[in-house]
Amino acid sequence: MSNSRAVLVTGGSRGIGRAIAHAFAAAGDRVAVHWGASRERAEAVLAELPGDGHVLVQADLADADEVGRMVDEAAAALDGLHVLVNNAGVFTAHPPLSVSYEEWQAAWSRTLAVNLLGAANATFRAVPHLVAAGGGAVVNVSSRGAFRGEPDTPAYGASKAGLNAFGQSMAIALAPHGISVGTVAPGFVQTEMAREVLDGPDGDAVRAQSPYGRVARPEEVASAVLWLASPGARFSTGTIIDVNGASYLRS
Ligand SMILES: NC(=O)c1ccc[n+]([C@@H]2O[C@H](COP(=O)([O-])OP(=O)(O)OC[C@H]3O[C@@H](n4cnc5c(N)ncnc54)[C@H](OP(=O)(O)O)[C@@H]3O)[C@@H](O)[C@H]2O)c1
Repeated sequence: MSNSRAVLVTGGSRGIGRAIAHAFAAAGDRVAVHWGASRERAEAVLAELPGDGHVLVQADLADADEVGRMVDEAAAALDGLHVLVNNAGVFTAHPPLSVSYEEWQAAWSRTLAVNLLGAANATFRAVPHLVAAGGGAVVNVSSRGAFRGEPDTPAYGASKAGLNAFGQSMAIALAPHGISVGTVAPGFVQTEMAREVLDGPDGDAVRAQSPYGRVARPEEVASAVLWLASPGARFSTGTIIDVNGASYLRS
């Protein structure tokens, strides 16, 4: 138990977050599985995780008060906090030439509130716990869309570009406290978030964007998150790791 870290994974109820929770639990860590609306799915994740000491925490990440309470609850239940993974996110279509102004505003407000402000607030509230633990890591789950553009979901692309910049700033701010901040930028991943696209008429074209002819598996994103949270990644703080099967290369 002594080497076991306390890890909070937002959006652990489904998809990539579930795979991240599994990866940490399999490494012997204690995981707080956060959920927003999917209580039963979160309970199922909790039940299937290997190891001991895992807990559930709930909050709407668009609500700053709920986020603060949830982070403190996770740290209390896990007896500290060493790692925060800001994974939860929303991806809602709002094509700029076809939505109403009201729909446009709603999409921007919700997307930025969850994807960017939710992560910023969770990080702010996690920092005192990470400092108290003598250091640790924050890992943000961003997206290839921050670089490649999101023509039908521009607020999503902007929220992830903001998350990238947030992670870079925080890497500098938190390094003196022994806290590293890393970012993962996946291309499409086989989850519910991407199902409509992947099962739709553009699915084959999306898969063909990678020379592997497929999209990422949640476990492949989790693997990069696990590494970014490891002591060996300490000096790579501030980095953004692509997990996109060479579907979009940048340097
Ligand atoms: N799938 C992809 O193709 C892809 C590609 C690049 C990046 N990503 C990023 O990877 C992360 C995980 O995506 P995913 O594919 O696993 O998506 P997903 O299957 O749709 O799951 C989204 C997760 O976020 C949580 N969540 C959403 N809104 C929330 C809110 N307001 N409050 C609390 N929790 C909320 C959900 O929890 P509840 O269901 O409990 O509310 C759920 O656990 C996201 O940040 C996403 O942008 C995904």
